Amino acid sequence: MQAGATTQGSSDKSVVSPPPSSPPTPQCIGIPCEVFPGEKRVATVPEVVEKLIKLGFKVAVESGAGDLANCTDEAYRAAGAEVVDTAAALWAAADIVFKVRGPTPEEVALMHEGQNLISFIWPAQNPDLMQLLAAKKVTVLAIDALPRTLSRAQKMDALTSQAGVAGYRAVIEAANAFGRFFSGQITAAGKVPPAKVFIAGAGVAGLAAIGTAASLGAIVRANDTRAEVADQVVSLGGEFVKVDYEEEGSGGGGYAKVMSEGFQQAQRVMYAKQAKDVDIIITTALIPGRPAPKLITAEMVQSMKPGSVIVDMAAEQGGNCELTEPGQAVVKHGVTIVGYTDLVSRLSRQSSTLYGTNLFRLTEELCKTKDGIVNVNMEDDAIRGLTVIKEGSITWPPPAPKVAAAPPAAAKPTAAPVAKKAHGHGEPSAPMPAGKLVMMFAVVAVLFWLIGHSAPKEFMSHFTVFVLACFVGYMVVWNVKPALHTPLMSVTNAISSIIAIGALVQISPLMDAAERPNSLITWIAAVAIALTAINMFGGFAVTQRMLAMFRK
Ligand code: NAI
Repeated sequence: MQAGATTQGSSDKSVVSPPPSSPPTPQCIGIPCEVFPGEKRVATVPEVVEKLIKLGFKVAVESGAGDLANCTDEAYRAAGAEVVDTAAALWAAADIVFKVRGPTPEEVALMHEGQNLISFIWPAQNPDLMQLLAAKKVTVLAIDALPRTLSRAQKMDALTSQAGVAGYRAVIEAANAFGRFFSGQITAAGKVPPAKVFIAGAGVAGLAAIGTAASLGAIVRANDTRAEVADQVVSLGGEFVKVDYEEEGSGGGGYAKVMSEGFQQAQRVMYAKQAKDVDIIITTALIPGRPAPKLITAEMVQSMKPGSVIVDMAAEQGGNCELTEPGQAVVKHGVTIVGYTDLVSRLSRQSSTLYGTNLFRLTEELCKTKDGIVNVNMEDDAIRGLTVIKEGSITWPPPAPKVAAAPPAAAKPTAAPVAKKAHGHGEPSAPMPAGKLVMMFAVVAVLFWLIGHSAPKEFMSHFTVFVLACFVGYMVVWNVKPALHTPLMSVTNAISSIIAIGALVQISPLMDAAERPNSLITWIAAVAIALTAINMFGGFAVTQRMLAMFRK
């Protein structure tokens, strides 16, 4: 089902007008069964099929592709997909193939020239697969190569959605292997202390694990080499445990760097202390492209209380714990060490839904015309980043993105410090040129002089208060983090409704008859009271709702 309409030749040679242009044939998105042993996910779910069809595509699903994720053939049919019987028929019919795991050589053999593949590929780790795919003259978008620092790309970030599921599931596996409650309880049968959970590495999976363990009532502590995550740990209900050694752990782009030997030594001392104290350790520490750092030694395992649990999420990369056996749950020194490498697959319906939604968002970016035809636009930073093969040419690794994630360290020397602060969603403001600034001050000074010279005396006292209030308000708001602007606005809305007091004075029955304003003023005051009441109570209601979001 290639794009493009076929036109029938006309026998009437006298017809000179061009044939009427028919709309392009929509492309077909194919969803094959995942063949990797133990993989239960599917690349899309029936709810997402409906959305893909609304974007103009046809969807074909291999029979049984969603069985292990609780998506039946009937559900796909009801959503508008065609269910095909064999993998060969599916790969032949599809213009674009959505997959979870990278294709096997047998699957690559089923591909045809011009086909598009969207899947996890890990191009750095799979050079042979890249060569096989390039030889087929196909276009490949590796979802793992998405530039994650682009905020526009977050909705397509399958690494994040899948790691979040894994972090949640790691806690559930720990709870399953642990012989006690997570939450502390006081019962008629006695007092139960809460479980203590230590999370090593507070990236995506680690933060999801912190939130889940805290919501189950455990005491949660976490450590990461990147100090910048400490606030996030606390906001999810955990306590950030620092290593007693000063060294910045951020390696840029949200990833860590390899730490000095001195730091690692101090970290081992802290981890050894935690191992003796806590009941559960969940390890997620990793620097992409490197073997997992060994953080939990055999001696630390030995020092843990019997019945304790370690879930080593980095098992596939060699493990953060020396005693982990990848893919297995083993008991050593009385401690259960879970090294499952399929945590995401163990919540296959949830992870398939999130993955399918990530791919749908990507398809929206590829098909802005909503006509069921994808356009792999290499000018778009996000699309360029994840396109690893374009029509048979290997385009990986991509050039550095045009827009830097962080502003460059060396700012213009003329920039005033206050002008460099981040605004809104982290965009740095452009510093105002000095000449323009002087001009602005001069204009404001002349304006003030004119007002002071000609305005009545009573006006001046009000005006002075007004100008001071503007200055104080501006300075206060300027120093509030952009993320807190909404709560700030909701509270100030309520406070600024002091206006209601002025209006109430105007319609007060206690006012002298001689001073009482005319009926027009009374009506305006009544309307002002009604409007400010909405502002006031609305402000408090919004504040209340926001506070409720942070309460358990
Ligand atoms: P991430 O890159 O977002 O987080 C890793 C965190 O570890 C970062 O915050 C980093 O600063 C921290 N870190 C690195 N070295 C450290 C050290 N020496 N000490 C303390 N912290 C350190 O990665 P993400 O997505 O959260 O994944 C975490 C792990 O979970 C990875 O190993 C990933 O492969 C694994 N994973 C496992 C799954 C499974 O089924 N077992 C499923 C999904 C992810």
